[in-house]
Amino acid sequence: MYRRAVLAGLSFVSVVLGQQVGTNTAEKHPAMPIEVCTAAGSCTKENTEVVLDANWRWTHITTGYTNCFDGDAWNATACPDGKTCASNCAIDGADYSKTYGITTPSAGALKLNFVTKNDNGANVGSRVYLMASDTKYRLFNLLNKEFTLDVDVSKLPCGLNGAVYFSEMDEDGGMARFPGNKAGAKYGTGYCDSQCPGDIKFINGEANSEGWSKGAGKFGTCCAEMDIWEANLDATAYTPHPCKVGEQTRCEGADCGNGDDRYTGMCDKDGCDFNSFRMGVKEFYGTGMTVDTSKPFTVVTQFITDDGTDTGTLKSIHRFYVQDGKVIPNSASSIEGVDAVNHISDDFCKQQKAAFGDNNYFATVGGMAAMSKQLEKMVLVLSVWDDHAVSMNWLDSHFPTNADVAKPGVLRGRCDPEAGEPKTVEAAHPDAYVIYSNIKLGAINSTFAGGQ
Ligand SMILES: *[C@@H]1O[C@H](CO)[C@@H](O)[C@H](O)[C@H]1NC(C)=O
Ligand SMILES: *[C@@H]1O[C@H](CO)[C@@H](O)[C@H](O)[C@H]1NC(C)=O
Repeated sequence: MYRRAVLAGLSFVSVVLGQQVGTNTAEKHPAMPIEVCTAAGSCTKENTEVVLDANWRWTHITTGYTNCFDGDAWNATACPDGKTCASNCAIDGADYSKTYGITTPSAGALKLNFVTKNDNGANVGSRVYLMASDTKYRLFNLLNKEFTLDVDVSKLPCGLNGAVYFSEMDEDGGMARFPGNKAGAKYGTGYCDSQCPGDIKFINGEANSEGWSKGAGKFGTCCAEMDIWEANLDATAYTPHPCKVGEQTRCEGADCGNGDDRYTGMCDKDGCDFNSFRMGVKEFYGTGMTVDTSKPFTVVTQFITDDGTDTGTLKSIHRFYVQDGKVIPNSASSIEGVDAVNHISDDFCKQQKAAFGDNNYFATVGGMAAMSKQLEKMVLVLSVWDDHAVSMNWLDSHFPTNADVAKPGVLRGRCDPEAGEPKTVEAAHPDAYVIYSNIKLGAINSTFAGGQ
């Protein structure tokens, strides 16, 4: 992704967070079982569940109901500095369906509503993580494996992003490494991604309160990210984003890679994306197209290693779709200067960046080999969001916004660039939602009919 603005997505004032644990609402994780499949094709169910990210939760003074953060600013009495703030403030349990519009319509399915009216006003978007137990995230090693899920984006219009991805977060949400964090994975702490987001209110067990302005503090939180699925009704991309660091790492200043520091920071913010429309095949993905987004379908992503074993190094990332029982290979590039391939590899990234005149920071940060190490212990993230920075134009419209649309790589999708403006999309499509279901991890070609 380009940038996620979480804080700006929260439009009700009482949502604030801390790192102690509040007791006003019991935390009860919705169940979301997955399956793990062997090469022989037998699959075993795992009783996994999901947890809401800490940033969305009500946070209050540990001993009462007073907000620690009012949606704009920190309470200076409770938060004279980040450490003190973390010891004075607690995050509480979440009412998943009522407050956040997060439900499980059937076994193994998760529905995320875009706008949810609630007692505090409205919640916009959400982000949850898959858990192996009540207190630990489920770690995924994706090498020589495939990751499969069903998506329903039929009610997810232009400007929205239903995102399924992996981030290299700590299994316990950072509790062991950062003693100031008393809440841990049970309360969705320890988020990081390749954009090194600065809108995360607690990082490394401390509040990000110092220098907080316009919805971000002075620190960011970085780690490698593998975007499996960033999509809506009209656009989709899958994108590896390696980092120079091999675990969740707090950044400050140039290391966060903001603005002019984009190509010197810890992480590859651009990533190496495969977006069929951007790669020249405009009739592949959308309503009534080869992959018909007006109805559900299956998305398969394969992580192929150089020697075909679990201990090899990542060589390429492949994509298949399955719809109405038919396997649909990803579209192949039709861009001049790029081989007609339908998967991501170092060669593809090099050719694509050259053809589009983009900086190949993906290669600078270490390319597929760097991503390979980082794919060994990833946490699964499922979310829906709108984009307060650039209106999702990087995914579904043209970007950079002021660039000539005739220049290769600028056109990303058929959406109107205005459609993704948060005020517009929140007003026009409050009832938008996405459904993710039937998550499977397995040996290559083991998780979908037609794979064998
Ligand atoms: C800030 O927190 C203190 C307790 O530390 C509390 O007494 C005060 O009312 C809070 N201020 C606001 C504006 O909520
Ligand atoms: C998986 O299936 C694809 C498509 O049928 C095939 O090209 C590929 O060789 C298979 N890979 C393995 C490891 O079986």
